[in-house]
Amino acid sequence: MTSSPTSTPLSSGTPLSLFVLGRQSDPRSERGVECPGDLPPASDPALVERARRAKAALGDRLFVLGHHYQRDEVIQFADVTGDSFKLAREAAARPNAEFIVFCGVHFMAESADILTAPEQKVILPDLAAGCSMADMARLAQVEDAWDVFADAGVAHLTVPVTYMNSSADIKAFCGKHGGVVCTSSNAKSVLQWALRRGEKVLFLPDQHLGRNTAVLQMGMSLDDCVVYDPHQYNGGLTVDELQAATMILWKGHCSVHGRFTEQAVDDVRARIPGVNVLVHPECQHEVVLKADFIGSTEFIIKTIRQAEPGSKWAIGTELNLVKRLAHDHPDLEVVFLEQHVCYCATMNRIDLPHLVWALENLAQGHVVNQITVDPETERYAKAALQQMLDLPGETARD
Ligand code: 13P
Ligand code: SF4
Repeated sequence: MTSSPTSTPLSSGTPLSLFVLGRQSDPRSERGVECPGDLPPASDPALVERARRAKAALGDRLFVLGHHYQRDEVIQFADVTGDSFKLAREAAARPNAEFIVFCGVHFMAESADILTAPEQKVILPDLAAGCSMADMARLAQVEDAWDVFADAGVAHLTVPVTYMNSSADIKAFCGKHGGVVCTSSNAKSVLQWALRRGEKVLFLPDQHLGRNTAVLQMGMSLDDCVVYDPHQYNGGLTVDELQAATMILWKGHCSVHGRFTEQAVDDVRARIPGVNVLVHPECQHEVVLKADFIGSTEFIIKTIRQAEPGSKWAIGTELNLVKRLAHDHPDLEVVFLEQHVCYCATMNRIDLPHLVWALENLAQGHVVNQITVDPETERYAKAALQQMLDLPGETARD
C-alpha cells in the first residue's frame, strides 16, 4: 500500500523528535505531513467562496465524497455523504469523474482507489487524516499472527475478516487467505458466511465490533472469543486457547468510540429521564449492553430520522455527526453520550483550508495528495471487498 505524499522533510529528526506545530514536518510520521504551497489561513473569510469557485471550475471532472464524521465546513461541499461503505460504492458508481476528492480518512480513500478505474484519481485533502484503529493492525503483525496460528494447527481452519476500517494491505491479506471485508452494518452476515467456510474467524482490527456482533447478534458467548494482542508473545494466547476459540479478536479499537463508558450511560439516564441510548458497535461491550439501540453510522442516522417528535436521545458516536443530528432535528432532544470524548482527531484533519488547497491545486492542473494502492495489493484487497459486495442483499443495502 502506498500513497504519494509530495512533502519534503525540513529536518532529519529521529522518529521520536517533536516538531513545532506547523513549522516542520516528518512525512514518515502520521502527524507531520506538509502541504506544499500556501495553505489558506482558517480565518480567511473568503474560503467558502474560494471552495465554490474551484469546485465550479472543475465541474463534472470532480466528485466530492463526505463521511458523516466530517466537519460542517467541509460536508457542505460534499456531492454525497455516507458511511465508509456507502462512499466506497458511490466512488465506484462515478466512472466519469476524473478526480474523487475524499473528505474522510486514509483507509476510505484507499478503498475508493481500489474500486475506481485506474485513470481516476482519488485525493485526500490532508495526508495526516489517518485512523488510529486501522494503524493498530500492521501487515507484518498479522503475518506473524498467521504463523502463530499455523504452529497451533488452526490457520487452515481460520477465515480472516477485516473491518472496512483497515489499511489496503490488511484487506489484501484477507483476500489472499480466502477472507472478506465487513462493515458495521453487515458484520453479522459476513461472519455467518465466514463460519460456513471455516471453524474460526480472525477478526481485524476492531475487537469491539467483533465481540459485539458475535455475542449480541450471533448467539456466541464471551468464552467463544479470545483477544490476540500483537504486542505479546504468541498474541498472549496458549495453543489450547487458540484451538478452543471461535472468534479470535485482534486487539484494536477506535480511539473515539472506545472511550464511551458505562458511567456515561448511567449519568445520562439519571440526568434525562426517558432518554434512549443509541451507540455504535465500535463501543465497548459493557457500554453496548447498557444501550437501548446499537447500530452503524447509517443506522444511527436512520433511527434519529424516524424518531417520535419529542423523544430524547443520547448518542455514542462521533461528535460532528451527533451535533449535526441535534441541529437537523430540533423536534427531538439529542445529546452527546459522553462529556469526556472529543471529535475524531484524524477526521477533523480535513478542514476547509485543506479542502480549498486541494481543489485549487486540481483546478490549476496540479494533482496533490493522490492516494494510490499498488496493483498487487489492489488485486487481493478487491477480491476481499468484492466477496463482501457479492453477499446476498449487499447491493441493496443503504
Ligand atoms: P462507518 O462509517 O462504517 O459507520 O464506520 C465508523 C467509523 O468509525 C468510520 O471511521
Ligand atoms: Fe478511525 Fe475511530 Fe476516527 Fe473512525 S472514528 S476514523 S475508526 S479513529
